[in-house]
Amino acid sequence: MSEGKLRVGVLVSGSGSNLQALIDACAAPDHPAEIVTVISNRPGVRALDRAKAAGIPAVVFDHKNYADRTSFDADMQKALDAAGVEFICLAGFMRLLTTAFVEHWSGRMINIHPSLLPSFKGLNVQQRAIDAGARFAGCTVHFVTPEMDVGPIIQQAVVPIHQDDTGDTLAARILVQEHRIYPACLKWVAEGRVRIEGERVFLDGANYPDAALHNPSSEPIG
Ligand code: GRF
Repeated sequence: MSEGKLRVGVLVSGSGSNLQALIDACAAPDHPAEIVTVISNRPGVRALDRAKAAGIPAVVFDHKNYADRTSFDADMQKALDAAGVEFICLAGFMRLLTTAFVEHWSGRMINIHPSLLPSFKGLNVQQRAIDAGARFAGCTVHFVTPEMDVGPIIQQAVVPIHQDDTGDTLAARILVQEHRIYPACLKWVAEGRVRIEGERVFLDGANYPDAALHNPSSEPIG
């Protein structure tokens, strides 16, 4: 156990590339957070291999073995308590949580979602952004509230949608940014820079970009 670091539990269901980004960031000796446990609701997923490779204890609670969400969440809660978790990152965790669980972790649980919330909540959001004719897409890190993909937003990254994009090419472009903003947000939280006021998040020392983006570019077309 490292003295003074925020003890983080990461909940996963799949590939775990965001988990990997968090692991890599937390590996810096002066990083203020430490991942102390990884929990998956699916056995055999790559995220579990990533946890193992990093020497982080990982637990599987296969949701198929549970009659209801309440008993599933109760087992997760026990594991989180046993690991001394203080803060949760959902990283591709594809399971709805009970309101009781979410309220218990209120202000202490964040999620990453591959759209510019509040647009495109739910699933298949990259393809839906393309189909809607949007020119920009992106990703959002936000605090988790009982309603899915709603909750105070900490940071967003924007990427352009290209005319020949497929859901997969756009998802890959967004994922690069996910891996940048998720670790940044966790660091800010662990540094105590993040304050929730109502629906909004205020970041102590925030820097703001001043560039606007045009898509398609407004440069002359040859
Ligand atoms: C990411 O696109 C994340 O935004 C969404 O689920 C995906 C998880 O990918 N919530 P990975 O498991 O982190 O690679």
